[in-house]
Amino acid sequence: MRSATMPPVDPRSKSALAVHRRHVLSAGVSTAAVSMLTRPAASQVPEAQRDPRDPLRLSFHINDRDFHAALDPRTTLLDALREHFALTGTKKGCDHGQCGACTVLIDGRRVLSCLTLAATVENARVTTIEGLANGDGTLHPMQQAFVDHDAFQCGYCTPGQIMSAVACVHEGHAQNDVQIREFMSGNLCRCAAYPNIVAAVKQAAPLMKET
Ligand code: FES
Ligand code: FES
Repeated sequence: MRSATMPPVDPRSKSALAVHRRHVLSAGVSTAAVSMLTRPAASQVPEAQRDPRDPLRLSFHINDRDFHAALDPRTTLLDALREHFALTGTKKGCDHGQCGACTVLIDGRRVLSCLTLAATVENARVTTIEGLANGDGTLHPMQQAFVDHDAFQCGYCTPGQIMSAVACVHEGHAQNDVQIREFMSGNLCRCAAYPNIVAAVKQAAPLMKET
C-alpha cells in the first residue's frame, strides 16, 4: 500500500529551488521595505553616519529666481532643471556630453548640464533658455536672430545652440564665420541648420555689444 504522506523533496530538485527562491525574495523585499520605512531623514543623521545616497537639501539661483529641492547627490543639473524645476527648455540629447543640447550658463560661462552635478552649482547663477528674454517678453538679440534667419528646423538643438552662441559672443569668439563655426562646434544639429546658425550669430553679436 502506498503512503498518503508527501515524499521527501530532493533539495536539488526544481520545486525545492523554487520554494527557496520565493523565500529569499520575500525575505529580501520585506527587509528592504522595513529598512526604507525606518530610515531616518538625512537631516536627522549625524554627518559622519549619513548614507552618501541620502537626499541633499539644496538651493539654486536660476534665471533670477530661487529654487529649493531635496536631491539625490548624483542628480545632474540637467535632470534637476527638467524634472524638479519644470525648466524643460534645456534639452537632453545624448546625456553624455557629446551634443551640446543641454548647454546652460553658469555665472555666464557655458557648461554641459548633463555632465554637471546639481549640487556643485548651489551658489552659482544659472541661466537657461527660459531666462534669456526680457520680463516683458522681448526676445534676447540671439533668440531674435535665430528667428530672423530661420536657424532651426526641428528645434531640438536650438536652446543649446542659443545658450552656446550667447557665451560665444561674450567670449569674443564670434569675429568671423570661421571662428563662429569653430567655437560653436560643440553644438550638433541633426537638421544641419549650420549656415543659418552662423548667420544668426553674426547678426546678434553687434547687437549684444550695444545692450
Ligand atoms: S545632452 Fe548634454 S551634451 Fe548631449
Ligand atoms: S534644428 Fe533639428 S537638430 Fe538642430
